[in-house]
Amino acid sequence: MKIKPRHLVFLTVLWGALQAQDFGWKALSEDGLHDPENPAIELLQQPAEAMSQLPPDTVGNKVLWNRAMREQYIQPRTNIFPETKIEVIDMDIIMDKTGEMPLVLFPHMPHTEWLDCSNCHDQIFVRKVDANPINMFAILSGQYCGQCHGAVAFPLTECNRCHSVPRSTFTGKPGVQDSRN
Ligand code: HEC
Ligand code: HEC
Ligand code: HEC
Repeated sequence: MKIKPRHLVFLTVLWGALQAQDFGWKALSEDGLHDPENPAIELLQQPAEAMSQLPPDTVGNKVLWNRAMREQYIQPRTNIFPETKIEVIDMDIIMDKTGEMPLVLFPHMPHTEWLDCSNCHDQIFVRKVDANPINMFAILSGQYCGQCHGAVAFPLTECNRCHSVPRSTFTGKPGVQDSRN
């Protein structure tokens, strides 16, 4: 492959993402949120100890959050106000503008178990297949999937968690997939 300037930009941003990957939970006295002088800080559990009980990930913040929820290690409160409507949808979307990489599968289910539709629609993504000019450079610059992945969700160096569908085995059409049985 001939290296073009836009590849260099891509590689520079990717290198930045790799550097940002070194992650450890800070002690409460060093997190900039808790008052280290307050004697009550002794009563609180340290994050590293609390997180060590959850299913471990090798990257990012070192916890497989979807598994932690599915296997009921944690049961996050879904709403503050009783009238808030919770909506979980099972809709997978296949994206095929991935060059030579495997196709991207975006699953609504695990996202809507954590997030409200309004977290993504329509500020980050217009609610229509193929209506968003998503590309890897924009993602690495913190747009689209990169608003969360690399920040609070698993890092962008985990290519295959998004690019999870090999071109050779995919015979359907990109876009919304028929719901799984
Ligand atoms: C958080 C999900 C996610 C991760 C992680 C991810 N990608 Fe992507 N990637 C996408 C999406 C979404 C697209 C756009 C697909 C579309 O619009 O059809 C894309 C597009 C691409 C493209 C197409 C060309 C371009 O510039 O957009 C390439 C090549 C690519 N990704 C490579 C990678 C590599 C290499 C990695 C790992 C270093 C990676 N991706 C990690 C989601 C991701
Ligand atoms: C984490 C972000 C995220 C959340 C949260 C989210 N979506 Fe989406 N949604 C997407 C993406 C990405 C697409 C595909 C956009 C594209 O292909 O350009 C999409 C596409 C859609 C589409 C278009 C399907 C079509 O036929 O064109 C609908 C409808 C939709 N979402 C409904 C919802 C609803 C309802 C919720 C809440 C229950 C929700 N979404 C939550 C990211 C999200
Ligand atoms: C608003 C925040 C947000 C956006 C935007 C977002 N994600 Fe996520 N995503 C999450 C969170 C939170 C999780 C669960 C925590 C984790 O796995 O790190 C997650 C998990 C995932 C998973 C793993 C699902 C599983 O079953 O474990 C995939 C795959 C994924 N995202 C792909 C994408 C792709 C592709 C895009 C862009 C088209 C995207 N996400 C955009 C927040 C987001």
